[in-house]
Amino acid sequence: PTKIAVLTSGGDAPGMNAAIRAVVRSCAYHKLSCIGVYRGFQGLIEGDFKELGPRTVKNIINRGGTFLKSARSKDFRTEEGRKKAYSNLKNERIEALVVIGGDGTFAGASAFMREFNFPVVGIPGTIDNDINGTDFTIGYDTALNTVVEAIDKIRDTANSHNRLFLVEVMGRDAGDIALNAGIGAGAEEILIPEQNMGRGRLLESLSRSKKSGKTSSIVVVSEGDEAGKNIFGLAKYIEENLTEYEVRVTVLGHIQRGGSPSCYDRVLASRLGVGAVDALLRGETNVMIGIVHNSVVSVPFSEAIKGSNAIDEELIRVADIISI
Ligand code: F6P
Repeated sequence: PTKIAVLTSGGDAPGMNAAIRAVVRSCAYHKLSCIGVYRGFQGLIEGDFKELGPRTVKNIINRGGTFLKSARSKDFRTEEGRKKAYSNLKNERIEALVVIGGDGTFAGASAFMREFNFPVVGIPGTIDNDINGTDFTIGYDTALNTVVEAIDKIRDTANSHNRLFLVEVMGRDAGDIALNAGIGAGAEEILIPEQNMGRGRLLESLSRSKKSGKTSSIVVVSEGDEAGKNIFGLAKYIEENLTEYEVRVTVLGHIQRGGSPSCYDRVLASRLGVGAVDALLRGETNVMIGIVHNSVVSVPFSEAIKGSNAIDEELIRVADIISI
């Protein structure tokens, strides 16, 4: 290809800007022209394009969010919307597309590729780390650090008042953020959808720790966990059944999606951005560029969107042992 477009789609993630920058500069390096598409697939349908030279992406490697903006486009789910997107690409003589996002983004991109035989390469950008075929997604490391920093603060007040805190973290249906941040922040218990421990076992565990002399506790609850879906109800249930506990709830919410990306995410985003342009130059399409055992790899979209519900038993064991 001689002209490539890049867009970000779905929930934003810290490091997306670094990935765009790497794609833009990699295009400049290979003397390809690069078009930025604003607002994800919605901007593709509306023709919201702007040429991006290497200097247009200065001062963004350190910034969270995505300067191209993002959207969850309903119109792109319609045949009419995708046709419009295709004709905009053709009119602009764009020959390939790099999409940065999560599984919804890849599913959309893959359908588009099949319909119009248009070359597409994906880069995993989501804080959830729920993409198959890559060890890490862009934004996950930063989100973990944000969560740990927040829980450290909650710990101070929890300890001062001898309270139990339920801290809800994001992750949609994946427990990766909860499990890793929970270990990093020294949580008492970690509730993740892959395990669905249930209220009963949580109560047993909490009463054991009370007996063992713990005065305050942090329970990290992934938003997708059954017991955690109604976190305020769960808090009430614990207070009713374990009267010795005074319980408070903190829902961390979208602060987990913002902030300056960690060095790890910046490096990952830069490697995957360069890798995506390399893949297009090799003639690859319908693949995601990921990282496995610290090597950049190409994975078919069909593999990437399978989801990764595999539970990391070793991490769960570590969490259990160190919270005794
Ligand atoms: O996929 C990223 C994510 O932040 C999930 O963790 C969360 O479930 C969802 O997006 C929230 O979406 P929205 O920003 O549309 O409320």
